[in-house]
Amino acid sequence: MGNVAAARPQAQPGYNCTSTGPSSGRAQTPWSGWVWASLRHGWTHCWTSEWTRGIIRISRAIHGSLRHPGKGVTVTVAFLESSVLYCEDNLRQLAQFPSECVDLVYLDPPFFSNRSYEVIWGDEAEVRSFEDRWDGGIQVYVDWMRDRVRALHRVLRPTGSLYLHCDPHASHYLKVMLDGVFGINTFRNEIIWKRTGAHSSAKKWGPVHDVILYYGKGSRVSWNEPRGEYTQEYLDKYYKFDDGDGRLYWRADLCAAGIRNGSSGQPWRGFAPAAKGMHWKFTTDSLDRLDTEGRIYWPASGSGWPQYKRYRNELKGLSIGDVWLDIDRINPRAAERLGYPTQKPEALLQRIIAASSNKGDIILDPFCGCGTTIAVAEQMGRQWIGIDISPTAVNIMNNRIRKATHGRCLPKVIGLPVTENDLRSLKPFEFQNWVIQKFWGIHSVRKSGDMGIDGYSFMTNDPIQVKQSEGVGRNVVDNFETAVERDGKNKGYIVAFSFTRGAREEVARARWERQMDQLVTVKQLLQPEPERRVPFLPGVAPVIDLPLPPSRSRDARPTAQELIESDRSAV
Ligand SMILES: C[S@@+](CC[C@H](N)C(=O)[O-])C[C@H]1O[C@@H](n2cnc3c(N)ncnc32)[C@H](O)[C@@H]1O
Repeated sequence: MGNVAAARPQAQPGYNCTSTGPSSGRAQTPWSGWVWASLRHGWTHCWTSEWTRGIIRISRAIHGSLRHPGKGVTVTVAFLESSVLYCEDNLRQLAQFPSECVDLVYLDPPFFSNRSYEVIWGDEAEVRSFEDRWDGGIQVYVDWMRDRVRALHRVLRPTGSLYLHCDPHASHYLKVMLDGVFGINTFRNEIIWKRTGAHSSAKKWGPVHDVILYYGKGSRVSWNEPRGEYTQEYLDKYYKFDDGDGRLYWRADLCAAGIRNGSSGQPWRGFAPAAKGMHWKFTTDSLDRLDTEGRIYWPASGSGWPQYKRYRNELKGLSIGDVWLDIDRINPRAAERLGYPTQKPEALLQRIIAASSNKGDIILDPFCGCGTTIAVAEQMGRQWIGIDISPTAVNIMNNRIRKATHGRCLPKVIGLPVTENDLRSLKPFEFQNWVIQKFWGIHSVRKSGDMGIDGYSFMTNDPIQVKQSEGVGRNVVDNFETAVERDGKNKGYIVAFSFTRGAREEVARARWERQMDQLVTVKQLLQPEPERRVPFLPGVAPVIDLPLPPSRSRDARPTAQELIESDRSAV
């Protein structure tokens, strides 16, 4: 049998790979996921978890070959694994995905709004910088997005949908770009999500909404008509008539505009709809049947037009339009709030996922942030894949999913920094997050870098200074000693890639005099926790679930200029 390298699959999910031959028995590894197997007879595409009856049932991702236990058949598979978080630029990551493998994409990219954010995160335990500014202007932003949208279009299945969440600064540019990539006929809706109440805005209408652009890849997409709840006020206003059987009903028109030649255009029981430019909503035979069933209301006077009785208990639910006023943004005390500035409410994702996917479908969020999409997908029995370029975001998502599922779902995390070189190229705020997290610490509530204290170790609250550099010298140790003293402490940690001899001598001297600084290298922090000979993890840290914190005050945050400089200085 064939043993061919990965390429584009052509068949549909569930397709039988008859060319693998019948078999029984299980693959030895309990894999699960979508698998594209290349066989001598061409590409095929299977949803499987074991070898059975000619279907390749494989399930967890492998690169390389898979050997059929019974037949000795070897195939090479490409795969798309779900429950995975990728820490990577989404364009690079999407290039690894097979084509036509994802059922629904929701993306909430950084907006074109010329703002910088800094997020202070979980018990001040995380700080990250969030870029959403585009130096080159809107065209640079749109081009950047076009590359990603093309990649997303490729990975979407023919019945798949894409929802792009954006704000009104860029939505019109993005729509034209999306029309170009998807085709103008595949545009389905511009959803207006009212995300906040009106607030006064300088000489313009208060901006209260976001835009969500909805496209289907093909003409037939997965669609489960969403229905909402009627308000009691609405029900009481319209569904108030009672004809004695205890069921309340509404009197709806039996006629609709326009003349028809068929039965629905004919007079019925002395009423001629054509005379007023209308037709019946039913054929005259159906009207007879409805009348027999007691579903027609006849005004008591005998002179009024008959009406249709629509019963309250038969209502299917309120149909939902493209203006969403009923989903609130996350309020400061909401249980789901994680402190991420662009975190979207779960209710928003619930609506999208329920309408445009089915159980077991694969949902992809390529700008996953703190993981709202994947958390909701998991709750709703979908498979999911998240991508975010920020290691901090990926760590947050990982914790969110573990916590939400009480450890039942343990995402596979790919691409987090694992070598010194990876860490050298992180942005300064990401690097600082990584270090503080290694201490299970909290961030300094003061402005970042203020007095040289960036954070505090877990439980012992010893100051930590983070240096993303080599050869940290005596002067840094001197200054840090002063900062530690001013902070009323007698011990602290400086973390860097390496230290000079002078720095080590200075620490040795200070230690002799008092319990003072410890110099910790990044290499030490990279050691697996049980092997790390560091005094700041009292052994309980891995089971600790740090409480979520309030954000730092505005004054304590770096300015936009500081963030920009910090980003520019990143390697
Ligand atoms: C607006 S936030 C998403 C928020 C998310 N919807 C939520 O509910 O938390 C945008 C995210 O895109 C990420 N991002 C920016 N550029 C990226 C890229 N090239 N590849 C992957 N992720 C990226 C940022 O790190 C940020 O977390």
